[in-house]
Amino acid sequence: MLEVSHLDAFYGQSHILHAIDLRLAAGESVALLGRNGAGKSTFLKTLLNAGPRGSGQIALDGRPLSTEATHVRARRGLALVPEDRRIFPKLTVAQNIEMGCHAAADGKACYSLDEIIALLPMVGPLVDRLGYQLSGGQQQMVAIARGIVSRPKVLMLDEPAEGLAPVIVDELGDAINRIRRSEGMAMIITEQNLDFARETSDRLYLLDVGEVVFCGSWADFDDRPDLVDRYLAL
Ligand SMILES: Nc1ncnc2c1ncn2[C@@H]1O[C@H](COP(=O)(O)OP(=O)(O)O)[C@@H](O)[C@H]1O
Ligand SMILES: [Mg+2]
Repeated sequence: MLEVSHLDAFYGQSHILHAIDLRLAAGESVALLGRNGAGKSTFLKTLLNAGPRGSGQIALDGRPLSTEATHVRARRGLALVPEDRRIFPKLTVAQNIEMGCHAAADGKACYSLDEIIALLPMVGPLVDRLGYQLSGGQQQMVAIARGIVSRPKVLMLDEPAEGLAPVIVDELGDAINRIRRSEGMAMIITEQNLDFARETSDRLYLLDVGEVVFCGSWADFDDRPDLVDRYLAL
């Protein structure tokens, strides 16, 4: 469904990503792992044309995306939940979620608030609260709600578990798996938390200094204990 071939990315003169190839089937979830600075966020932003300059091929359902503007890519079905969550502080949670609906493809119905709450129960009691009144975990749930409300084909989550308490991380993992299983939404999840990534993905890519250094199943990954030491340990 999503095919990324030979993707390079640049910030000004800095060449950040080198010839990245990635495939994502419909309904599949892949984890993108790598140390701080490996290029995970740059990859997600390049797919959406939101910051870095990219070159290479990106195709969604066989149609090229590489030359399209950000809003077109969003309408075609890419949604990013950024690392810093970007909740609007003076809007209510319901209004924050509604903002995500602008990305919907023409004529394609967004999820209702009730449907969102069924997928993300933590959002239920928060709908009238203002953005600035939310804890970190609540912000993450609302950011995901805003990301999925337009029913994207590919949900990109940038280090969703980062900085959250373990009990919230468990709930977040359950919510992500509920969305995968009941909605069949495909996902790319960047993480440094191995356990969380394993629990929420079907297979993984490992990125180091802007290059894919491993791609395979979790079983293949477990057969290569050197990978953690070389590419993930601090
Ligand atoms: N806005 C930017 N301008 C210039 N360089 C950037 C910018 N954002 C990130 N970088 C650089 O790109 C590289 C990859 O960063 P990033 O994609 O944020 O890594 P990760 O998400 O894996 O931690 C790093 O060397 C970082 O310093
Ligand atoms: Mg990052």
